Amino acid sequence: MAAVQILPSILSADFRCLGQQIAEVEQAGADRIHVDVMDGRFVPNITIGPLVVEAARKSTSLPLDVHLMIVEPERYLADFASAGADIILVHQEACPHLHRTVEQIKQLDKQAGVVLNPSTPITSLEEVIDLLDQVLIMSVNPGFGGQRFIGSSTQKVRRLQRLLQERGAQAAIEIDGGIDPTTAPAVVAAGASLLVAGSAVFGAPGGPGEGVRRLRASLSQEP
Ligand code: DX5
Ligand code: ZN
Repeated sequence: MAAVQILPSILSADFRCLGQQIAEVEQAGADRIHVDVMDGRFVPNITIGPLVVEAARKSTSLPLDVHLMIVEPERYLADFASAGADIILVHQEACPHLHRTVEQIKQLDKQAGVVLNPSTPITSLEEVIDLLDQVLIMSVNPGFGGQRFIGSSTQKVRRLQRLLQERGAQAAIEIDGGIDPTTAPAVVAAGASLLVAGSAVFGAPGGPGEGVRRLRASLSQEP
């Protein structure tokens, strides 16, 4: 099994001191930084764009995992690539020409991921799965931090793991939404190796560093 990586989502960070917050999670052992881009159309909320990705890029050498919750993401891939994204993730539901969009990400020399909303079946990825570096299972409906984990997502991760094994595909399984020390062990046991966490990290009582350490510690417990 691949080593589990922790990806703090800066959506829940204090943007008055973003650089410092990123430094804190990096010191505590975070593996990548997850950046949530929302356009107010694909999801109801509006967040950040390439400018903030650029600022995050200057704050850390960790890989930046950029989750595009926007319509027509193909129009902005080059902007996010030059802002410093290392992995670019697009939603299956936002891409009628998903194969082409994935190829475009690869042509920019970036890793490509596809995200599935809770209601989107994993079978919708069968024709592109061999091309992907990551598949991100949303375990909440995207748009906001701090929502409750949808329990059936654990089964979905397990089914995705099976599909990847059957196909001999290499994509890593990422999960996003409601991940905390209570939900993390079961999704890892099901096959997830990339854990996104917003409120569990940046809302942790002892601060973001403590949030990362508590999440890491939970992984050595039985689900
Ligand atoms: C939700 C975003 C998540 C969000 C997760 O649409 O994609 O990355 O930051 O937040 P938590 O971990 O609080 O559910
Ligand atoms: Zn996200």
